Amino acid sequence: MRCDLSGRVSLVTGSARGIGRAIADRLASNGAVAYYSDLSADEAAAAAAGSPGGRSLALDVTDPAAIAAAVGRILAEVGRLDILVNNAGVNTIADRVAIDQFPRAEWDRILGVDLTGLYEMSKAAAAVMRRQGSGRIINIASIAGLVPLRLQCAFVAAKAGVVNLTRAMALELGPAGVLVNGIAPGSTLTGGTRQLFYGDDGLYKESVRRMLDHVPLDRPATVDEIAVAALFLADPENSYMTGHTLVVDGGWTAGYARDF
Ligand SMILES: NC(=O)c1ccc[n+]([C@@H]2O[C@H](COP(=O)([O-])OP(=O)(O)OC[C@H]3O[C@@H](n4cnc5c(N)ncnc54)[C@H](O)[C@@H]3O)[C@@H](O)[C@H]2O)c1
Repeated sequence: MRCDLSGRVSLVTGSARGIGRAIADRLASNGAVAYYSDLSADEAAAAAAGSPGGRSLALDVTDPAAIAAAVGRILAEVGRLDILVNNAGVNTIADRVAIDQFPRAEWDRILGVDLTGLYEMSKAAAAVMRRQGSGRIINIASIAGLVPLRLQCAFVAAKAGVVNLTRAMALELGPAGVLVNGIAPGSTLTGGTRQLFYGDDGLYKESVRRMLDHVPLDRPATVDEIAVAALFLADPENSYMTGHTLVVDGGWTAGYARDF
């Protein structure tokens, strides 16, 4: 998919790797000035290096002062911010436990990045976009925000919050010309999830095989399959969709995928 983003300025949080990097790559290769941002300035710069129109900055979405500085820098350098992709996210990868054992510190960490960080980032960008009279905010949720998974209480709560906040922001910012949509990815292969998916023999682990039995397309997504949905939401020609969360999950949540 191609679209014309020339003259647009984008910022993707958590874009040194994974889904965020693929989204920033797509925005850049379709003509946008693309700010890659992540906790590490060096890693963000490395991601931006190979990208036409790629720029980079260090940005921790849990730090409102850093957010203000980053947005200030973008405005000073290029004068506008057209597309914000709230992608930065964390979850408990190992040691998943039930809610009665779920540590409060882990709850705070996940909610702090996945929901409060997204709120802080959106707040700063929305003020700029409201002044411009235009803009796109794209929130990376998860199918876990629509259909909860076991043993991930903080993640499912945060991502459900993202889905509803997407709708609320669409209501508030639509009159100012700012469209707010989300993406709910299913399982997606990244550098981080690859080791969870495959055993030493190069085959899916047993738990992943069981999970994929519920996915009609019978495989995880590639990061680029999520990025193309973000490009669609950023495309100036896609101009009447707001408050929507696109599910990109290979059919996982379309229904009950097994015989009974
Ligand atoms: N990979 C999947 O299967 C999957 C499925 C559903 C949803 N998602 C969502 O997609 C988004 C990207 O996931 P991914 O798999 O590419 O993750 P990832 O771990 O590969 O990349 C996430 C990036 O976010 C950055 N980050 C973490 N905390 C940050 C903070 N406080 N401020 C700024 N950056 C921060 C990390 O440094 C990392 O570069 C997340 O919101 C995630 O919840 C992923």
